[in-house]
Amino acid sequence: MKIYVPMDSAAKALGAEDVVAALRAAAPDAQIVRTGTRGMIWLEPLVEVEIDGVRHGFGPAEPSDVAGILDGTSPKALGPVEDLDWMKRQTRLTFARVGVIDPLSLDDYRVQGGLTGLTRAVGMTGQQIVDEVTASGLRGRGGAGFPTGIKWQTVHDAEAPQKYIVCNADEGDSATFADRMLMEGDPFTLIEGMVIAGLGVGATKGYVYLRSEYPDAIAIMTHAVEIARAEGMLGSNLMGSQHAFDIEIRKGAGAYVCGEETSLLNSLEGKRGVVRAKPPLPALEGFLGRPTVVNNVISLATVPVIFEKGAQAYADFGLGRSRGTVTLQIAGNVARGGLFETAFGITLGEVLNDLGGGTLSGRPVKAAQVGGPLGAYMPVSKFDTALGYEEFDAAGGLIGHAGLTVFDDTTDMLGMARFAMEFCAVESCGKCTPCRIGAVRGVETIDRIAQGDPDALPLLTDLCETMKDGSLCALGGFTPFPVMSAVTHFPDDFARLKEAAE
Ligand code: NAI
Ligand code: SF4
Repeated sequence: MKIYVPMDSAAKALGAEDVVAALRAAAPDAQIVRTGTRGMIWLEPLVEVEIDGVRHGFGPAEPSDVAGILDGTSPKALGPVEDLDWMKRQTRLTFARVGVIDPLSLDDYRVQGGLTGLTRAVGMTGQQIVDEVTASGLRGRGGAGFPTGIKWQTVHDAEAPQKYIVCNADEGDSATFADRMLMEGDPFTLIEGMVIAGLGVGATKGYVYLRSEYPDAIAIMTHAVEIARAEGMLGSNLMGSQHAFDIEIRKGAGAYVCGEETSLLNSLEGKRGVVRAKPPLPALEGFLGRPTVVNNVISLATVPVIFEKGAQAYADFGLGRSRGTVTLQIAGNVARGGLFETAFGITLGEVLNDLGGGTLSGRPVKAAQVGGPLGAYMPVSKFDTALGYEEFDAAGGLIGHAGLTVFDDTTDMLGMARFAMEFCAVESCGKCTPCRIGAVRGVETIDRIAQGDPDALPLLTDLCETMKDGSLCALGGFTPFPVMSAVTHFPDDFARLKEAAE
């Protein structure tokens, strides 16, 4: 009997290890394969039993469910996992293998299409590789949506004795977990993407900057790099070619601002994680002053499938200038939370009401914050906005790293606006005044609004303008998005206390 149980942090947090212990005790002869998660977090721990070559799901499993799972009488039987609505409605390109394979089996990886892209890239010139990425339309999935091909072209064209690939795995946005899930569920995909990036721009060294709060991801990535080195996927003469590329895993100490690329580079160099002024762009003067590609985990992990299926096949998915798929992370007060990979173009309403099933509390949805703590609060009236970079921009929001946090109608949006300013004040690196001072004044001003001060709201609007225009990086520059979206879309929450004071 073959049984699959995730070893992803989310599944473990929900009791996967206890279920595995119960399975081992009850069925010592069964082959238990540990995988990543399928992304249906409300069903974790999700146990999958292979019956006639088809994986049948049982979840959320508890140790007491094991007997029923083994004899086929469990009320938690879900049927074939691939037939579940959540799975069938996805376009899994970047996450195709996550939840399916043993993350540390290079054989599993190969059987499921791994290394096909790299094998193709090894036979191409650097310029051909960059052209392929440009043609795919891939844009940075970390948040900014900058065209990956243009970034790679800049590094490719730069003359330097050494270039670097730096993977930004400092996933700090609230409600985001796609980077972690990918690294814990299919680490070789990220490694393969980094190697292709290295071949494309002429870099021989890569770093994964991974936050210390992700111990499982650090352990799996470290082990995967060792396996990749031993199997000739990394090192000199990789894949039997004349090329060389190696990767080091570096642990960040855990500051939100170290997810900003220049601050990350400072931290990687052993310096304090403060933001550097741009220009110079990291693409020209990055790690140790050398041309550096800094890309998010999902951007790099999407590269192998582009080379496997071809740039056009990837670009065929999507909407407008947002090509390919987006890995939505659905969280907060939602009935069904998890990871859902789909072509750009789906609306927020479809995702949250249809897939997410509304709120967990059962109350009406009030808002969804899209794009992490720096993203706008989208009211229900904007839920027909299609997921696309330009479409969200036009609706006053941003997709960011595609984290969606759901709130019900009991949420006080003034409190949420205050939280955004407070978050900025706590996480500010302190380099520029609009953010360092502005965020503190922002908290005070929102408190004045709460106390009914009629002059405070115009002051807050002014302050947000100053922060937006004058901040050096996105932390100070984007904090006005959640604040002003709360003011604009939920004016009653800002007027209520004022009226009470009058
Ligand atoms: P940005 O717009 O300044 O830059 C985007 C990227 O393009 C950078 O890597 C930049 O170096 C590069 N670039 C720009 N022009 C270039 C050129 N001509 N050649 C080569 N490369 C070029 O945005 P930034 O500040 O890097 O990121 C802001 C975004 O980060 C926000 O949208 C926010 O959503 C997101 N974010 C994500 C977080 C996460 O946890 N993933 C956390 C916080 C913010
Ligand atoms: Fe630092 Fe904030 Fe200025 Fe960014 S906006 S450089 S985090 S002080």
